[in-house]
Amino acid sequence: MHDERIRSRAIAGKVMSADEAAELIPAQANIGMSGFTGSGYPKAVPAALARRIGDARERGEGFTVSIWTGASTAPELDGTLAAVDGIDLRMPYQSDPVSRGKINAGVIDYLDLHLSHVAQMVWEGFFGHLDVALIEVAGVTEDGELVPSTSIGNNKTWIDQADKVILEVNSWQPAGLEGMHDVYYGTALPPDRKPIQIVSPSDRIGVPYFHCPPEKVVAVVPTHAPDRNAPYKAPAEDSLSIAGHLMDFLAHEVRHGRLPPTLLPLQSGVGNVTNAVLTALDEGPFRPLAAYTEVIQDGLLQLLRSGTMAVASATAFSLSPDGMDDLTANIAEYHDRIVLRPQEISNHPEVVRRLGCLAMNGMIEADIYGNVNSTHVMGSSIQNGIGGSGDFARNAYISIFVSPSTAKGGSISAIVPMVSHVDHTEHDVHVIVTEQGLADLRGLAPRRRAKRIIDACSHPDYRPALQDYFDRAWRGAPGRHTPHLLDEALSWHVAYLRDGTMRPR
Ligand code: COA
Repeated sequence: MHDERIRSRAIAGKVMSADEAAELIPAQANIGMSGFTGSGYPKAVPAALARRIGDARERGEGFTVSIWTGASTAPELDGTLAAVDGIDLRMPYQSDPVSRGKINAGVIDYLDLHLSHVAQMVWEGFFGHLDVALIEVAGVTEDGELVPSTSIGNNKTWIDQADKVILEVNSWQPAGLEGMHDVYYGTALPPDRKPIQIVSPSDRIGVPYFHCPPEKVVAVVPTHAPDRNAPYKAPAEDSLSIAGHLMDFLAHEVRHGRLPPTLLPLQSGVGNVTNAVLTALDEGPFRPLAAYTEVIQDGLLQLLRSGTMAVASATAFSLSPDGMDDLTANIAEYHDRIVLRPQEISNHPEVVRRLGCLAMNGMIEADIYGNVNSTHVMGSSIQNGIGGSGDFARNAYISIFVSPSTAKGGSISAIVPMVSHVDHTEHDVHVIVTEQGLADLRGLAPRRRAKRIIDACSHPDYRPALQDYFDRAWRGAPGRHTPHLLDEALSWHVAYLRDGTMRPR
């Protein structure tokens, strides 16, 4: 099996165990690892490195490394290294519970970045020198070209920038992935930057492989291990209501001639709510659809399978086990309708703006004026990170944020007087949707936005208190453009931290 996957003799000669490969990583190294939303991350060497760090610590010689990836990975990577306190700095996105805990405890430094910015910032040298690239691939061709696996993320940049490259060749990944990717080698820093020549989601402007000088490869570790293919939950009632509101809104936009009947290229964030919206689209009237997005989740694959969607461009898969089985079994049919790109291209603001993407992302909370917090619980604790939501929201044709109107069993209102952290300002938020309803904020000045959000999106248990806050702010604030009572604006969060609920007394 591995001979079929490692077709280059020069590369095949570098096969070794994960433990041997982990020994080649210097202490305190900056390591660029593959991995994006639980797909295409290295499965064996991070755990071997964690064992090495754990053993070294017992001898009193502990060390750390800095981990750069595409986005989130899995317990075998983030979890295992965080558990031994082996991570000094982590960037640009994570969603692992163990590493989240260590970040919030102040043990790991975390840089939460726009995903389209990462490669550029690495080229500029902001994070120091990249010592090692640790990349999962699906195979190596006779010529030593690397066949990407289920995500591309920042792999091209890691391979280019690192002193040495360690490959994990995962024979579990479908061989049929070969040719699905479009790795663009034309990016440059200003003033040498050229237009990105993508005018349709299906356009291919690169090559299907990563180039890597064979002499850079110091180790090759064969693996046969699945991605973190977590099942999606059956859509909850809230998600179905949100999906319903959005379908009505899209139909309304088509009726008013602001969207074509095929809509515009969709971007859909990760999570169960957005997955439910994709499922609803399969039963809707809009087709053929296209996606210019970051990840291909089950709902998107289903749209491709049914023919509702013609083509999808992304940087990674994020599938359930069933979704992965479907992809593997029918990969020939999907092959030419899916394009996986480096994340600086999948999320490129220029392309997102040109195509007119319809961006749909999850949020933690929004305030009555339309500012959105996607990342921080109670202003201080990171949940995951901004991911690609800012790349898309800022540049989308319509920027939509979705969330249930309450969290934690109703003790938290997702609509608050003032968000406790801002990721997407009122200027980048066009539409907010909860199970209660949809607020289209386009064309509305702040005061009218507040009315729309309170009336359409807030939960009835919190609506009177929000209205009361707004009314008193209107009367008592020093200015009436965006009226706030500053000594009260964050009092809902304070009440939750103190009493365990935001519910009005
Ligand atoms: N206050 C406190 N906690 C909140 C909250 C709020 N207002 N809203 C949600 N949460 C908690 C939930 O209770 C849940 O906690 P748990 O894991 O302990 O159960 C967690 O946040 C996730 O919420 P959930 O309702 O399951 O929604 P989700 O899976 O759709 O995630 C985000 C919502 C905002 C966390 C997620 O969309 C995200 O990380 N977004 C930023 C990145 C992004 O948009 N990426 C896509 C770009 S392509």
